[in-house]
Amino acid sequence: MNDTTVAPPSAPRVLEACGLGRSYHGKPVVIDVDLAVPAGQTVAVLGPSGAGKSTMLRCLAGLEPIQSGSVAFQGDTLAKPGTKPRSFAGRIGMVFQQFNLFPHLTALENITLAPRRVRGTGREKAEADAFALLERVGLPEHRNHYPYELSGGQQQRVAIARALAMRPELMLFDEPTSALDPEFTREVLAVMRNLAEEGMTIVTVTHEMEFARRTADRVVFMVDGRIVEDGNAEAVFTRPTNERTKQFLQQILGE
Ligand SMILES: Nc1ncnc2c1ncn2[C@@H]1O[C@H](COP(=O)(O)OP(=O)(O)O)[C@@H](O)[C@H]1O
Ligand SMILES: [Mg+2]
Repeated sequence: MNDTTVAPPSAPRVLEACGLGRSYHGKPVVIDVDLAVPAGQTVAVLGPSGAGKSTMLRCLAGLEPIQSGSVAFQGDTLAKPGTKPRSFAGRIGMVFQQFNLFPHLTALENITLAPRRVRGTGREKAEADAFALLERVGLPEHRNHYPYELSGGQQQRVAIARALAMRPELMLFDEPTSALDPEFTREVLAVMRNLAEEGMTIVTVTHEMEFARRTADRVVFMVDGRIVEDGNAEAVFTRPTNERTKQFLQQILGE
């Protein structure tokens, strides 16, 4: 199922949010969001600060309860109002702006922890898998380094490898490069691009317009809790229909 980058419309949906709503203390923050993501698609979520992008992503990850609508993952209910969201134990990988590595564990130990604890993978197998993942993110020689010995970009690549170690069917990224210096941003985006090209299903909040334009199959623009624009990158960038999208793109692209 992960062999195409641009999935046809009939492709099975890995993720499906319908009428998703989330409020904090009665204040709606995510409003009536419909988002169906077929297998193999890369979706870039753009929008101004405070638009509700992170909140939406956490709802899609099952990290927050929702007040209306529903979220399904691989056809199974992930979240609905009035119940605790279901955890899919690593089948949904999440990478945050702050890398959140365990500071007292090496790169290798960070990556093997969940497979060993949650999946019961044996040490040798978990370490072999982790080493292969470190090679994939370009860090095989850093396996025994602690997070403080790694640059931000290296830490973020370890965080991606850690999520991949659980063999996720969906990867969610929340501004994965926003805390990085520009020289490290590129290496993290390269890892994400490889993942996309290998057919991973991805939803990423990002301010990297080049990534959204070149790598994403689809761009979603959020304002005030709502998705106001949803289409392929070229269409959203060159022919935005929403006034706020136009303003945002003008500001950020300086056009
Ligand atoms: N845990 C929370 N409690 C209360 N309000 C929150 C919480 N998290 C986010 N918000 C509010 O929800 C709105 C959307 O925030 P967020 O999802 O972080 O937006 P974005 O990621 O687009 O910048 C903001 O007004 C923010 O203050
Ligand atoms: Mg955010």
